[in-house]
Amino acid sequence: MCGIVGYIGDKDILSVLIVGLERLSYRGYDSAGIAVVSDDEISVWKHPGKVHRLAKDLETTTSHARVGIGHTRWATHGIPNDINAHPHCDAQRRFAIVHNGIIENYMSLRSELVKEGFLFRTQTDSEVIVHLVDKYYNGSLRDAVTQTVKRLEGSYAFCVVSALHDNHMIVARKNSPIIVGLGKDENYVSSDVNALVAQTKRVVYLEEETIAVLSDQSVEMYDFSGQPRAHTVSEVNWTAERSEKNGYDHFMQKEIHEQPSVVRTILDTYVKNNEIVFPKLSFSTKDLKNMSRLIIQACGTSWHAGLIGKYLIEELGRVPTEVDISSEFRYRRLLSHADEIVVAISQSGETADTLACIREAKSKYFSILSFVNTEGSSIDRESDGVIYTACGPEIGVASTKNYIGQLITLYLFSLHLGRIRNMISDDVYQKHIHDIKALPVAIENVIAQAPAIKTMMARYYSAKSIIFIGRGLNYPTALEGALKLKELSYMHATGYPAGELKHGPIALIDDNLPVVGIVPKTATYKKMMSNIQEVKARGGRLILIATEGDTVAKQLTDDVIYIPPISDELSPVLAVIPLQLMAYYIALNLGCDVDQPRNLAKSVTVE
Ligand code: G6P
Repeated sequence: MCGIVGYIGDKDILSVLIVGLERLSYRGYDSAGIAVVSDDEISVWKHPGKVHRLAKDLETTTSHARVGIGHTRWATHGIPNDINAHPHCDAQRRFAIVHNGIIENYMSLRSELVKEGFLFRTQTDSEVIVHLVDKYYNGSLRDAVTQTVKRLEGSYAFCVVSALHDNHMIVARKNSPIIVGLGKDENYVSSDVNALVAQTKRVVYLEEETIAVLSDQSVEMYDFSGQPRAHTVSEVNWTAERSEKNGYDHFMQKEIHEQPSVVRTILDTYVKNNEIVFPKLSFSTKDLKNMSRLIIQACGTSWHAGLIGKYLIEELGRVPTEVDISSEFRYRRLLSHADEIVVAISQSGETADTLACIREAKSKYFSILSFVNTEGSSIDRESDGVIYTACGPEIGVASTKNYIGQLITLYLFSLHLGRIRNMISDDVYQKHIHDIKALPVAIENVIAQAPAIKTMMARYYSAKSIIFIGRGLNYPTALEGALKLKELSYMHATGYPAGELKHGPIALIDDNLPVVGIVPKTATYKKMMSNIQEVKARGGRLILIATEGDTVAKQLTDDVIYIPPISDELSPVLAVIPLQLMAYYIALNLGCDVDQPRNLAKSVTVE
């Protein structure tokens, strides 16, 4: 949510900053801007809208600046116009800042600064930062930032450059992520590793409440009281190519097609000689045996994975499990008992609500287990145990391959628990491992139906609304199908447990309303089919996700998408893929930007 980049060194600064912003643009795309320092002056360029519009403005511009910052915005305070676009400067343009987060006490700071004569130009909360730096500047940019952070409440990662100091820049962080990338005679700043991997694999994740001073030769860290702080250099194993489209029209399309290889990678990573091994799980066998409850909390698509995780953990691992939306979980009274673990599920590892929950749970002495895709992220670093979903960078704002990674790792974790807790026999355990190994080919079979799904969706994109229904393990699949459609096409959609249809939503059904029924051959098949008949009886337009060989489904509608036969536990993995493709093609038919839908951001770092 808002992406920040910074660079100091000899490369063409405008292109380094623009490329960095392009790579971070899934964090927000309401406006983009950059500021560079040269000849004792700050030059600023901004443009409302996506980064490519700013890039176009700069096509013929050159700069010999060696230090600069950039920002891609997801608006929180102030409409997304060029005035509110970052970077923000003080009146004399001695300083420029870019900020990710929310300054919660900005109103009182702004009143104080206005009374003191500081001139505000924007409606943003962020602008107070640059005026505070200006107010406290006394010859040292680091000292000014150290004074500034003492006044700020809320969450922030910000980067400051100054016309008075073209040989360094300052970065500060509290509750929002920021990373320094280390180069030779150059250094970088970025909100996440995606903008860095093309330039360097050596990174430093800033600790909470850290101020970093970057020159082209050095990186120094300080705590908020000004004391030097040691830092650790980490190696990133993502490659830049994994963040490219590689011939696909969209990142989302590429990521849907990567799903078979996601499963293969997870199996290679965690299944050794047909045994599940989690190297960073950290909990002892005794802990896992004695565990009395798991409480999963997550947001968005990760929450849907958590809902399926509950079924899997209770079915295979036999541990009572609750699932909460992170932004709700925080406001519950958390009754802590021994032997309970709070689980966070997050692609980015930076979602503010999910992170706040693990901090809250830790303060109440819960242990934390996380399922995270982004190594080095805040949730990764603040958890007691971690299982990586190992999907590589996911760029499309609507999550696809990482959802599959979350389902598979939750499934393996459930099996692992079942084994340790003596709830499943060796034979059953091996049967599950065998099933999962067959999954990549089954996923390929479903994806191969993309052209047919595309043709089918040409008949549905003009619908006003679509209902998705499922039961049991596939009720969350219905929620995920509806979420994908809303995110990508802006069409109203809702996911419902099929059995609840008769308690209200059935009133919506007429011959205009498409209803997507998720009816694989699982334990709930017969009940699902009764619900489908109820929809049919009321004229609903049916699209069914059914198991190959299901002739009944074909009698109910022409629009059946078949998935290969699969166990109940793995059926959500195959059933969701047609729903991803449906959302993708409906959005394309409607002319929507599938990789960067309006109003959304991939990494939501504000609460
Ligand atoms: C945003 C993204 C969703 C994602 C959710 C949770 O809303 O657009 O795709 O599911 O955040 O993100 P996380 O990184 O915690 O999984």
